[in-house]
Amino acid sequence: MESPVNGFFRMDEESFERLSQYVTQEYGIKLPATKKSMLESRLNKKVKSLGMSSYKEFLDFIFSDEGKQGELYHVIDLITTNKTDFFREAAHFHFLTQQFLPGYQNQGSRNHLKIWSAGCSTGEEPYTLIMTLEEYKKTHPELTYNLLASDISIRVIQTAYQGIYDLEKVEPVPLEMKRTYLMRGKLNPRLVRVKPQYRKKIQYKRINLMDDHYGLVKNDLDIIFCRNVLIYFDKATQEKVIRKFCNLLRPGGLLFLGHSESIMGMDLPLRQVKPTVYQVQ
Ligand SMILES: C[S@@+](CC[C@H](N)C(=O)[O-])C[C@H]1O[C@@H](n2cnc3c(N)ncnc32)[C@H](O)[C@@H]1O
Repeated sequence: MESPVNGFFRMDEESFERLSQYVTQEYGIKLPATKKSMLESRLNKKVKSLGMSSYKEFLDFIFSDEGKQGELYHVIDLITTNKTDFFREAAHFHFLTQQFLPGYQNQGSRNHLKIWSAGCSTGEEPYTLIMTLEEYKKTHPELTYNLLASDISIRVIQTAYQGIYDLEKVEPVPLEMKRTYLMRGKLNPRLVRVKPQYRKKIQYKRINLMDDHYGLVKNDLDIIFCRNVLIYFDKATQEKVIRKFCNLLRPGGLLFLGHSESIMGMDLPLRQVKPTVYQVQ
């Protein structure tokens, strides 16, 4: 039995291998040896709170039938990296409304958009899309849209659904948009909440991008945002996921990736229209 030093459990090599293999296989997320201390610091509290005396005991439990029903989901919540921001990589939102949408709407009167924010984290990305589209609708009232937001982590989906953020978090939102889309917390003035009429525009779903099917209809989506998610996957897995996106997008539809992600070297029916923005051919 390993005793924790100053209340901190060390993960033995075998447990690290077991956990990292599982996470890579099930969720696509690479966990090289350099991530071991990050994992230890994220999981330490959980191991303690379950009253376990070692990582071996902890993993035996979370991979047991009982653990798979409950705790395993919370472990995934702790392992994923959820960093996100409102108007992150703002050029994407400008491109969408200033360059792409006017032309796209003209082709075959596509006035109803189906958009998916895949790996939406705590909601900043789908809410930025809502604000961007609602602003665009002021001059293009014929546009309607559906917005699906998904993640593997239930915890972040719950946060997104609540739509409550610290004031500092909404700093990137322009003042006029803050007034239109956000309201001040009644009990805590350091918090703001997305107004209910905008919160309810997003549909949430837990989707693991490693699954063979996402329960979505082929050639039915106009736009997929999957930014800063695939970066945690290896190249072959990234290509597999993007191929599934291509099947879900209509011809002419767009895929937005994160600033450090690319499809270079992949054989996909996509053409680059802007850095990290791709169109299905
Ligand atoms: C760094 S955040 C990116 C959030 C947002 N797209 C952005 O760019 O700001 C990455 C998100 O991907 C999610 N994720 C990681 N692996 C996933 C998988 N296999 N399926 C679905 N989501 C996953 C994580 O839970 C996390 O919330």
